[in-house]
Amino acid sequence: MDFKQHIKEVADYPKEGISFKDITSLMQDGVAYKKAVDELVTYAQERGAELIAGPEARGFVVGCPAAYALELGFVPVRKEGKLPRETVRVAYGLEYGTDILTMHKDSIKPGQQVVILDDLLATGGTIEATIKMIEQLGGVVAGIGFLIELDGLGGRERLEGYDVFSLIRYE
Ligand code: PRP
Repeated sequence: MDFKQHIKEVADYPKEGISFKDITSLMQDGVAYKKAVDELVTYAQERGAELIAGPEARGFVVGCPAAYALELGFVPVRKEGKLPRETVRVAYGLEYGTDILTMHKDSIKPGQQVVILDDLLATGGTIEATIKMIEQLGGVVAGIGFLIELDGLGGRERLEGYDVFSLIRYE
């Protein structure tokens, strides 16, 4: 399936000069959405996932259905102040801005094989922060899967040493 045709590109959003890749158009098409998630399910399975993690909010869009399909647990990676129990936290830089990500301290068992799923890889800051927390909690990052990878922003380089898979690439 040509997944790219289901992604709408929005010029100058959210800032001038940024070409936003809108996945809501993919999600609106039930067949395309399912097929895209299926690809991430296959990837996570191949990587021996025991747990799926995904950053809010769009990481939930792909991570939760994949975890459900695999009968695996899903661990939400959330912005500060959203998780009610004890957390680990990491500050990170975004394509546009900075923020703090958190995870519950008891969300991962030592040695657990974790596959991270998200909608998009840009600078890799979000996933780098997610990896730090997973490893701090004793988890093993077995793979990282995206719907979309943007080339030229250093994301793949930043994640060097980890297995990175993406369905759609933009130069
Ligand atoms: C977007 C996107 C990725 C991240 C990619 O999330 O969903 O998680 O940015 O950028 P990076 O590779 O430069 O870190 P955002 O923080 O905008 O949150 P949202 O999903 O809640 O919109």
